[in-house]
Amino acid sequence: MAIKNLGSAGELFPQSVFIIGSYDEAGKPNAMNAAWAGECSRHEICFNIGDHKTTANIVKKGAFTVAPADVTHVAEADYFGIATGNTTDKAAASGMTFTQSEFVDAPVIEEFPLTMECEVTDIQGDEHGARIVGRIVNTRVDESILDDEGRVDFSKMHPIIYDATRRIYRVVGEEVGGAWEAGKAFM
Ligand SMILES: Cc1cc2nc3c(=O)[nH]c(=O)nc-3n(C[C@H](O)[C@H](O)[C@H](O)COP(=O)(O)O)c2cc1C
Repeated sequence: MAIKNLGSAGELFPQSVFIIGSYDEAGKPNAMNAAWAGECSRHEICFNIGDHKTTANIVKKGAFTVAPADVTHVAEADYFGIATGNTTDKAAASGMTFTQSEFVDAPVIEEFPLTMECEVTDIQGDEHGARIVGRIVNTRVDESILDDEGRVDFSKMHPIIYDATRRIYRVVGEEVGGAWEAGKAFM
């Protein structure tokens, strides 16, 4: 092996393509793309967010939604990460359907089959940049991506992930082994 040190930028993979939905104080819906985000416990989502319209919205409303983007909405997901709600009505321009969450003061985007509806439990920072933790109040799922036992089946949903090394999106691939199972080969 020939080792090369790449410095402090992490190459942790995969990264999420989470679409974060929020309302501003006038009730206008917005969505942004977040890759530096993840599930920090079974019932919580955390993410790092810069100085964006979404940040100000979440600080004011204390709520947001998270929809993992799927393969049929690559262009819309990327659009939410390159345009800003400060100057554009991204909800209208994307053609996607934003409706009020039943559980929190934030919009859900109907076309995404899976959405976590969250209330903020911790913010380190302010509207100009923050590390935010949200408690999942409800997970909303389209029945078309459930298996026979009522579990979310990602092989039906085809979520996408972000590859920061090339700045591209990839689709989640095949099942390759059982968790808490494959390692038993060494026991
Ligand atoms: C693939 C991708 C991932 C991104 N991840 C993040 C992120 O984790 N945190 C962040 O603050 N901005 C991230 N961005 C940038 C925001 O999505 C972008 O600045 C967006 O315009 C903010 O929208 P808003 O101003 O309407 O809130 C990402 C953009 C892309 C394309």
